[in-house]
Amino acid sequence: MRKISIFDTTLRDGEQSAGVNLNFTEKLEVARQLERLGVDVMEAGFPASSKGDFRAVQEIAKRIRGCSITGLSRSNQKDIDTSWEALKGGAEPRLHLFIATSPIHMKYKLRKSPEEVIESAIESVKYASKKFPIIQFSAEDACRTELPFLAKVVKEVIDAGAQVINIPDTVGYITPQEYGNVFTYLKENVSNIDKAILSAHCHDDLGMAVANSLSAVEHGADQLECTINGIGERAGNASLEEIAVALHIRQDYYQANTGLQLNEIMRTSTLVSKLTGMIVPANKAVVGKNAFAHESGIHQDGVLKEKSTYEIISPELVGVASNSMVLGKHSGRHAFRTHMESLGYEMSDEEMNRLFIAFKELADKKKEIADDDLMALVTEERLGAATTYYEMTALQVQYGTNNIPTATITLKDPEGNELQEANTGSGSVEAIYNTLERMIESPVRLDDYRIQANTGGRDALAEVYVSVNFRNKSSRGRGTAQDVLEASAKAYLNAINRVLLQEQWHEENRKVVKK
Ligand code: KIV
Ligand code: ZN
Repeated sequence: MRKISIFDTTLRDGEQSAGVNLNFTEKLEVARQLERLGVDVMEAGFPASSKGDFRAVQEIAKRIRGCSITGLSRSNQKDIDTSWEALKGGAEPRLHLFIATSPIHMKYKLRKSPEEVIESAIESVKYASKKFPIIQFSAEDACRTELPFLAKVVKEVIDAGAQVINIPDTVGYITPQEYGNVFTYLKENVSNIDKAILSAHCHDDLGMAVANSLSAVEHGADQLECTINGIGERAGNASLEEIAVALHIRQDYYQANTGLQLNEIMRTSTLVSKLTGMIVPANKAVVGKNAFAHESGIHQDGVLKEKSTYEIISPELVGVASNSMVLGKHSGRHAFRTHMESLGYEMSDEEMNRLFIAFKELADKKKEIADDDLMALVTEERLGAATTYYEMTALQVQYGTNNIPTATITLKDPEGNELQEANTGSGSVEAIYNTLERMIESPVRLDDYRIQANTGGRDALAEVYVSVNFRNKSSRGRGTAQDVLEASAKAYLNAINRVLLQEQWHEENRKVVKK
C-alpha cells in the first residue's frame, strides 16, 4: 500500500477564496485542527504577501510541531528571505517556490522569455537550498505548458536542489486522462525524476479537481495538495475530504492511502465552514448534511435491513457519530470537562471555567446541548475577543404587523464609551442594520445574508453569515445566538469589526516601522 502525503493549503490557496479573510487567531485555530487531522504538510500562507500573512505563518511554524509547515514564495531572493524568516522556527521548514511556465503566463504576466524563466527558477532553487532543508517547486499553469518545456524546467530545478515537484492545474482546465499523461510523460522524459517526489495541485473550474488528483495518484504522484471543503480561488481546489475518503474506500483500486485521522474530517470541515463563512452545500460529498441521509422509502428500507445496500461510507468513519446529544442543564463541571477533553479540546482551567459558565447559560435556554453547540461555544469563546472592536451590549427590537420595525442598540467602543442609537427599517433585520450603520458613521453595503440552524430542534442556536462591503473592503462576518435577530446583529457587527481591526493593526504596524 503506497502512502500518499497530504499537503493542505486551506490557509493559503483556500484563504484566497473571494471575501474570505481569516484573522490570526482563526488561522491558528484551523492550523491546530489540521494538525489533529494529521496532514503531512500545512501551507500556512504566503509570507511575503502581507505583514499579516508573515505573522500568521511565523506563529503557526512556531506552535505546530506535528507536521511540516510551508509558505508560498515567488522565485526571487526577497520572497525567499522573507519566507525563511517566517518559517525558520518550524519543525520541518519547507519552501514552496513557484514560477509560471505556460506560454500565456510567461508572455503576458511575467513578460519573460522561456530561457529567463528557467534561469530564475534555477537561481531561486539554488539560493533557497542554502537556507531550507526541503524545497518544493511548482510550475504554475503546468497543465497549459508544452510538455518538453515542462520536462526541461523540472529536470533543471531537480538538479538545482528541489526535492518535491508540483504540477498545478492552475486554471482547472485539464481532464483526468490528460493529467495522468503529464505525470507519465515526466516520469519517462526527465532523467533525474526519481530524485523527486511528484505532487498534484488541482483547481475545480470544470468540476474535475478530485478526479484529476486521483488520476495523478494512479500515474505516480505521491503527494496531493488540497483544501478543506474544497475552498479556494474561483471554483476552489480539490477537496481534502473527498480525496482522503475516496482513497480509503477504494484502497482495493488505488492501492494507496493517507495517514489522516479520518474521524476528524467532519469537525475540521465544520470549523473551516464556520470561520470562513462558506456554508457547505447539503449535497456535498462526504461532509454535506445530506451525505448520509437516506430519503426514499426503498433506500431506507434497504439500509435498515443491511447498511451496505446503499451506504458505502459510514458516518462514523468521518466523525459524524460523535455528534450526538450529550449534555444538559444538570451536567456538572466534571462531566463538562471530561466531555470537552474527549472532543480533543485542550484548554487552561481559566478557559474551561469561562466556557462552563457559557455552557450553563446556554443550557438554561436549550434543553439538550449537542457537540455542535459546544463547538460554537468554543469558537465564540476563543475567537470572539479577536474580532471585537465595537461590542454590542444591548439590542432591542420592536416589531408588529401594524408597526414600523424599530431597533435600539447600545455599543461599547474600544475606549469603553457607550453609544446608543435607534432607527427603523422595512423589516426587523433592516432596522438593526440601519441602526448599526448610523452608529458606525460610514456606509455599509450588505452583499449576502444567510441563516442556518446550528443543530436540529426549535431551540437550536441560529448562525448568521453576512458579506458586506465597508470602506471599500469586502468582509465576512458571522454571529451565533439563540435569537435570530441577535445573531443577525452580531454577524453584521462582526464583519464591520474585522475591517476596523485590520485598519487598526495596519496603523499600529505603520507606526512601529516609522519609529
Ligand atoms: O494554482 C496554482 O498554480 C497555485 C500555485 C502557486 C501552486 O496555487
Ligand atoms: Zn492553486
